[in-house]
Amino acid sequence: MPNPNDMRGRFITLEGLDGAGKSTHLNWLAECLRERGLNVVVTREPGGTPLGEKLRALLLNESMHLETEALLMFAARREHIAQVIAPALERGDWVLSDRFTDASFAYQGGGRGLAWEKLVVLERWVQADGETMLQPDMTLLFDVPLAVSQARLANGRELDRFEREATDFHQRVRQAYLDRATASAGRIKRIDSDRSLDAIRIELAELLEPLFL
Ligand code: TYD
Repeated sequence: MPNPNDMRGRFITLEGLDGAGKSTHLNWLAECLRERGLNVVVTREPGGTPLGEKLRALLLNESMHLETEALLMFAARREHIAQVIAPALERGDWVLSDRFTDASFAYQGGGRGLAWEKLVVLERWVQADGETMLQPDMTLLFDVPLAVSQARLANGRELDRFEREATDFHQRVRQAYLDRATASAGRIKRIDSDRSLDAIRIELAELLEPLFL
């Protein structure tokens, strides 16, 4: 009889500064996984559910207290886990999420300066189920120097509330991501994303290989 744990899908999150290229890689990864015959759910945070998308519109456009911002991020996440992530993993699907809790540590913690302990409490509240904590099986951190991400952003569409923040905010976000990657080296893989798409894809394919076992 197969071990029920083996039937569970895999949960992969993509993180990084705005402009680090995660959306491009997300689409490519989803295609690769589908080519292997897997059912893939592509989703994003904040968002991923009808309620979460409403919260996203508020979060990206309205100014608010930093704790309100953190609470709304985690409220959207609670809904996302309940409605999308947990059911998909139970069905055996693979879930690719454009951002998850590491973004809260990076943006609300590093960027805005919200106390780490408060984020730890929220993480536990939203992700713990008895003794077990829902965590991504792997987190891909697309890392680029700040100048690269800012140049990519300057090229595009209208910026949201986070993207409009000053350079030192983004510097703190990047540093918080890197610190978290060091602290969770098994789960979070830092990918130097200031390279050609092909070079990054080769690395991504290698990183994902152990998840198929
Ligand atoms: P993203 O979807 O990457 O933006 P875009 O669609 O422009 O590529 O993320 C939206 C913004 O939300 C991003 O600037 C980071 C921010 N964010 C947080 O501050 N905390 C969080 O917990 C999450 C999930 C996102």
